[in-house]
Order: sequence, then structure tokens, then C-alpha cells
Amino acid sequence: MRIPRLLQAILVLAGVYFGFIVVFDYILEAVIPRSLLTMYMFFVTAGVFMVFTYDEDQTRELVAPIKAMVENPQYRMIRNVVFTIIPLLVGFGVYTKMRPSFDAPIELRTIHPAPPSTAQIFGRRVNLLELQNPFRKFEKEDPEQFAELVAEGATVYIENCQYCHGDKLDGKGPYAEGLNPTPLNFQDIGTIAQLQESYLFWRITTGGPGLPSEAAPWISSMPVWQNFLEEDEIWKVILFLYDYTGHEPRSWGHE
Ligand code: HEC
Repeated sequence: MRIPRLLQAILVLAGVYFGFIVVFDYILEAVIPRSLLTMYMFFVTAGVFMVFTYDEDQTRELVAPIKAMVENPQYRMIRNVVFTIIPLLVGFGVYTKMRPSFDAPIELRTIHPAPPSTAQIFGRRVNLLELQNPFRKFEKEDPEQFAELVAEGATVYIENCQYCHGDKLDGKGPYAEGLNPTPLNFQDIGTIAQLQESYLFWRITTGGPGLPSEAAPWISSMPVWQNFLEEDEIWKVILFLYDYTGHEPRSWGHE
């Protein structure tokens, strides 16, 4: 029994394809871009069909099964199945290719980039290295007034921030699902607990657009709050973030 020419061609192509994968992925363990494999298979396919359609007889033999399937009334069932499955497969392929993905991009993104030493905030140049929260001193000096400031900060938070960062400050606000990168979770030990208040002030006032390029390629949706809030409101919301989560702002010990 001879293997039909069409099946031979398909077997050669499959052999080359899996051979490529075995050699590069398993033997050499080399990282080869899939686009290269596509290009390679394109040329191999062209070559195989050039050989298999060398003369008329061979060509006729090659396409005979396809012709039979399309023309021979005996193969109606097979034809119907094949002509249903192929469009479905193509449709599924296009669908999976086009579907937007919420996976993190391969590139690494710095979540906490080093802040600039100065930044243009509220129309003036602010030295971030020396900047202090003007209300922090009340924590010791006047706890009652401090509690009031924290409560005002809570109002600022609920009115402006909880949509994204969540009413429990866990980054799970109602909008969070649709955002990439996702809003940060302030309860997590890896966010504000690691940061100075001046860092938060810089991030809140300048938002996503204020991030330096190493924090790209993701486009942060964090708004530029200096356009919407007063300076005092931002310092108060910072008090609230630490008070609610029980974290201490990081300091360099010169207090
Ligand atoms: C539209 C959604 C959205 C709103 C509203 C929003 N944020 Fe954000 N915020 C984000 C996203 C997304 C990030 C993470 C990406 C980034 O670092 O820019 C973020 C990051 C931050 C960070 C950086 C934390 C860190 O560990 O570096 C701080 C601080 C912050 N937000 C505070 C606030 C405060 C305060 C408010 C309200 C005044 C607020 N955010 C409102 C989306 C939002």
C-alpha cells in the first residue's frame, strides 16, 4: 500500500515542524521567536509543494483526494464535516489572537521607581528629599487634632480614591478589574509601608504621568491629583492611608 501523495506532503511538513521544535526547544534549549518558525515553515511549505507538484501527473495525484472530497457524491458527509470544521477552526484562531489579554507584559516594570530629587508640584519646585508631612507632628503633640485630620483624610479617600484602591485600601475597588496595572494594595507590606510620605506625596500629586520611563511600559491610570485636590487634602489622605492600614511611613531616622 502506498501512502497518498497528499498525506506524504503533510507528513513531511509535520516532521519538519516537530523536528524544529525538538531541536531548538528540547535539544539546544534555545529561545527562538515563534515568528521565525512561522517564516521557516512558510519556505518549507513552498519547497515541499514545489517538489510534490514537479510535473502534471504528480500534481494530479497530490490534489486527487481534495478533488474527490469536493466532487464525489460519495464523500458528502466528509465534505460537510470538513467544510464546517475549517471555518470554525479559523474563527477560533482569529478569536484567540484578537482577544485582549490582561496578562502582565513580558517586560519588567519598576513598581517603585526612584523618585526625582525635585519635582514641579503645585506650581513650584519641591525638594522631595526634604519634604515632610506638615501634619505628622500632631500625632504626638495633639492626638485629638490628629484624629480629626485623619478623619478628613478618610473623606478625601472615600470621595476620590476608593473607586480604584478599594474601601478597604486593598486595591480591589469597583474599577480595579478593568485597570492594568492594577491599583496598588496599601494593606500590602510591599507598598506604602516601604515608602516615605514625601514619596507618596510625589506619586499622588503627579500620578501615572509623573512616573519616570523605567516604570513604563504599562500606562498607569493613577490620576494627577494636584489637578483636583488641595495640597492639604493630599497630606491628610496620606495620614489616613497609614492610620487605616496601621503601617508606619518609612523615615531615614532624622526625626
Ligand atoms: C483611576 C483609578 C485610581 C484612582 C481614582 C486613584 N488611584 Fe492611586 N493608583 C492607581 C493605579 C493603577 C496605581 C498603580 C500604578 C502606579 O503606581 O501608578 C496607583 C498607585 C498609587 C500610589 C503609589 C503607591 C506605591 O506603592 O507606589 C499611591 C500612593 C496612590 N495610588 C494613591 C492614591 C490616592 C491617595 C488616591 C485618591 C486621592 C488615588 N490613588 C486614586 C489608580 C488610581
